[in-house]
Amino acid sequence: MSTPQATPSRSHSIAVLPGDGVGPEVTQAALTVLDAAQRRFGFGTDRTDVPLGADHYAETGELLTEEMVGRLREHDAILFGAIGSPSVTPGILERGVILALRREMRQAINLRPVRLYPGVPTPIAGLTPERCDLVIVRENTEGAYVAQGSTVHAGTPAQVAVQESVNTWYAVERAVDFAYRLASVRRRRLTLCHKTNVLVEAGKLWTAVMDSVGQRYPEVETDYVHVDAMCMHLPVSPERFDVVVTDNLFGDIVTDLGAVLQGGLGVAASGNLNLDGSAPSMFEPIHGSAPDIAGKGWANPAGACLSLAMMLGHLGEGEAAAAVEAATGAVLAGLPALAGEQMGASTQELGERIAVLVADGTATAVDNSLMSQLARVMGPTGATDEHRLSSRLDDRDAASAPGVLS
Ligand code: IPM
Ligand code: MG
Repeated sequence: MSTPQATPSRSHSIAVLPGDGVGPEVTQAALTVLDAAQRRFGFGTDRTDVPLGADHYAETGELLTEEMVGRLREHDAILFGAIGSPSVTPGILERGVILALRREMRQAINLRPVRLYPGVPTPIAGLTPERCDLVIVRENTEGAYVAQGSTVHAGTPAQVAVQESVNTWYAVERAVDFAYRLASVRRRRLTLCHKTNVLVEAGKLWTAVMDSVGQRYPEVETDYVHVDAMCMHLPVSPERFDVVVTDNLFGDIVTDLGAVLQGGLGVAASGNLNLDGSAPSMFEPIHGSAPDIAGKGWANPAGACLSLAMMLGHLGEGEAAAAVEAATGAVLAGLPALAGEQMGASTQELGERIAVLVADGTATAVDNSLMSQLARVMGPTGATDEHRLSSRLDDRDAASAPGVLS
């Protein structure tokens, strides 16, 4: 069902996918913040609830269907909560919904800021907000996430498991080009994170793409760090990084570490960005469905609210994006703890506090705001200028390319 929220001149159509566990709680808090942003900045949204998740799977046996893909494509963006439930074998919903959506919607990159807001406690001794403001650009559709491989001699001592990692120039070029573009509006420093000393073939391709695309961005200084070394540098000297570009699996791992720097998984946001305008982008907190605390109001809605801020930046609502980011940071700074009962307020109460600050505009603006930079980097249509890229797929190829559902 669709709920028109207002009738102003600017309106965005949003598919809301709350999912499982704490997903609906943090999403509801984010929608309260969105209501406040709409009223203050004079835009509207048309929201459609999408029931994907464990309950829908139990009732219908369905994961992401072709029909659902078609319906989702009609929206400007997807606001996502969390997916996963103890009632479903681990991996079924994650692969059948989250990974399927990322691939079907051609969400080429997963953008994950690592930012410590002023006053927010971090487990890293001596870390200050000035030293912790970077963005990880994770390639989002390939690498080891293609789910290609095979098992032979299953159930015998001779069992063989082959799990492949796929790296195409096409996908890597899009991730790297985006990372350069983002770096060029930030502190102009881009680091490739990989494991080129062991994953030699994939490493050659990533390095060659970095060099080739880099010719168009002479103003951006580049650097290379192995992924294992990244796990050492990130907590010790995060100021070394501005934008980091990396492969899907490495990106998954290092962004959990990044989340810890900024106060924990409950605070970390992400945007799965479609760069060619062919389908909506999707914005989700990094945390999972946390079934152990579902229904208690103990989940921190900051990750969901900062994901909402990214969505607003992506939709061209840069001022609203900056306001939601500032308000979320300010509310976080006042909390006695960043998760659980010790937060001192429920998920929804925190959403309401953030909404009040968005409405009155009193939170101090954040410098170097990624959320506002997104509005510039994505351009008016949200699409990458394909002509800059050396690898292209025309519409005919795209229409005949097999999706994950086929
Ligand atoms: C994430 C998650 C997912 C991933 C899982 C749930 C499939 O860990 O968004 O980081 O591996 O990408
Ligand atoms: Mg992860």
